[in-house]
Amino acid sequence: MKALRYLNKYFFKYRYLLLAGVFFIICSNIFAILVAPIVRTAIDTMADDIKTYSLLSIDRAFLLSHIGKLALFFGALVLASALVKGVFMYFMRQTIIVMSRNIEYDLKNEVFEHYQKLGAAFYSSNYTGDLMNRISEDVSRVRMYLGPAVMYTINMFFLFVLVISVMVSINPRITLLVLLPLPILSVTIYFISEVINKRSDFLQQKLSNITTFTQEAFSGIRVIKSFAVEKWFRKAFENETEEYRKRYLELVKVNALFFPMILALVGLSVIITIYVGGKEVINGTFSFGNIAEYVIYVNMLTWPVASVGWVTSLVQRAEASQARINEFLQTEPDKVEGGVQDFSFSDSIEFRNVSFRYKADHSDVLKHIDLRIPKGTTLGIIGTTGSGKSTLARLLLRSYAPTEGQICLDGSDIQQLNLQAYRKLFGYVPQDIFLFSDTIANNIKFGVAQGDLDQTSVERFAAIADVHNDILGFPKAYQTLLGERGISLSGGQKQRVAIARALAREPEVLVLDDCLSAVDTSTEARIKHNLKPVMENKTSIVISHRVSSMENCDLVVVMDKGQIVESGSIQELLRAEGLFARMAEMQQQEEGISVE
Ligand SMILES: Nc1ncnc2c1ncn2[C@@H]1O[C@H](COP(=O)(O)OP(=O)(O)O)[C@@H](O)[C@H]1O
Ligand SMILES: [Mg+2]
Repeated sequence: MKALRYLNKYFFKYRYLLLAGVFFIICSNIFAILVAPIVRTAIDTMADDIKTYSLLSIDRAFLLSHIGKLALFFGALVLASALVKGVFMYFMRQTIIVMSRNIEYDLKNEVFEHYQKLGAAFYSSNYTGDLMNRISEDVSRVRMYLGPAVMYTINMFFLFVLVISVMVSINPRITLLVLLPLPILSVTIYFISEVINKRSDFLQQKLSNITTFTQEAFSGIRVIKSFAVEKWFRKAFENETEEYRKRYLELVKVNALFFPMILALVGLSVIITIYVGGKEVINGTFSFGNIAEYVIYVNMLTWPVASVGWVTSLVQRAEASQARINEFLQTEPDKVEGGVQDFSFSDSIEFRNVSFRYKADHSDVLKHIDLRIPKGTTLGIIGTTGSGKSTLARLLLRSYAPTEGQICLDGSDIQQLNLQAYRKLFGYVPQDIFLFSDTIANNIKFGVAQGDLDQTSVERFAAIADVHNDILGFPKAYQTLLGERGISLSGGQKQRVAIARALAREPEVLVLDDCLSAVDTSTEARIKHNLKPVMENKTSIVISHRVSSMENCDLVVVMDKGQIVESGSIQELLRAEGLFARMAEMQQQEEGISVE
């Protein structure tokens, strides 16, 4: 129960709902129990009256009408108390179940908010599906504890206390005999539900495998068809579902045992009641009415007893789920996510002896990087694939913290600076572009506070990124939806929309990570031309493996295997006849264009 203790703060938050719920539970139980004594009184009164009337040898017709009236009267009483009980049960659910839904809502928000705080390192070491499960599957299981389990437990407690004390006050010995089978019932149900839960967990897992499989088959349908492997996929799907069917039928068998079992044990209690009660009636210590009353009590206790097993397994599952949720909630955000210091950018960004590795047991991806980017200048970073260019950009954006060394803004370590404000400085076009399933216009406005950008500006930025004409060609122009249910963009179009999105923030520092790799050289030339005035007074970092992208740069650094191997202006680098010059020559031959 340790993990579930975490939820106590929520019980406290909704304590009034909980208390009201307990009150309604008590009331509903009182009226539920009332039925039994009413029935007993009815039977005993009628039996007495029949006895006395027959002694006085009164008219049979009169006796019948008298009994009829009694039956109506007591019947009305039973009906009335059942109705009142129903009303209280309604309020019991309205309070406790509502409380559980509220807590579920709060908990989901808490988990989501925490997810947003966690950094890139966390996301690269966890599966997306797993993260989704925490917030859906696990929270739902916890809700079963918060709602039904809590409600039934409180209900059971009060029902037991009330019913058993009434029964004992009537006849302790019979009470003991009658209640004997109930613990057996409880334990049996606990074990059966264990089996059921285990099997249904397994099925759940199977089902999610089938879903993943199906989803891949749909998203990859073009590849599947073009490789003509439909048959193989169908066969694999069949195998998966066949296994699922078999396991499901096993579960059905256990389920089929469940109810007969309960009914048999309840029946046993009723038989004991009638047998033992009957003997006592003959001895004169018990009335006919008492037998009926006891049968009602036994029936009333059956469901709660049956649900002990069920509730126990609910609580156990909730416990396991909450433990998983807690594990995530207790994951501390990276140190990159901290920082409170206010600042403004006026001088330069500096890398001071920065080394970095993604995981402790990996090798260094960046080695002793020293680099100074004065405000207002354009830096070019060029290097082969895997040389660490994107990693350098990620460190600058504070997705990760350097393993060694410091990155400084105007001399202060960027980890100390207020993160939100720090990231606002940047317009970043990452290498792996992600656009949301939304309209193109909204994707461009995405990084602007509250999407506060008019259509003319959106179009202006799209034009700079040379994607405006492409967009006008789409069915609904800027209102065209992207993503699964909308159109899909080509790699080059995606890159240009992402450039427009970065520009729309009108950032102080523009970071373009290989953002023109998928556009042809003439488009690249146009974009470079458009960007020139925009970048004039801005600090920019242009990352590319193409020499032609370095054209507007004040300083170019050449990276190789995580190190800066050369730096200088383009002319200097060409003259030095090092790696850069070799790359330039090679690319010139490939594309037949000049760098200068
Ligand atoms: N999330 C990551 N986890 C572990 N290693 C990574 C990760 N991202 C990149 N790397 C590794 O870091 C090295 C540099 O990658 P990257 O910075 O993307 O190079 P570039 O952008 O110059 O092509 C590569 O060897 C790559 O495999
Ligand atoms: Mg890269």
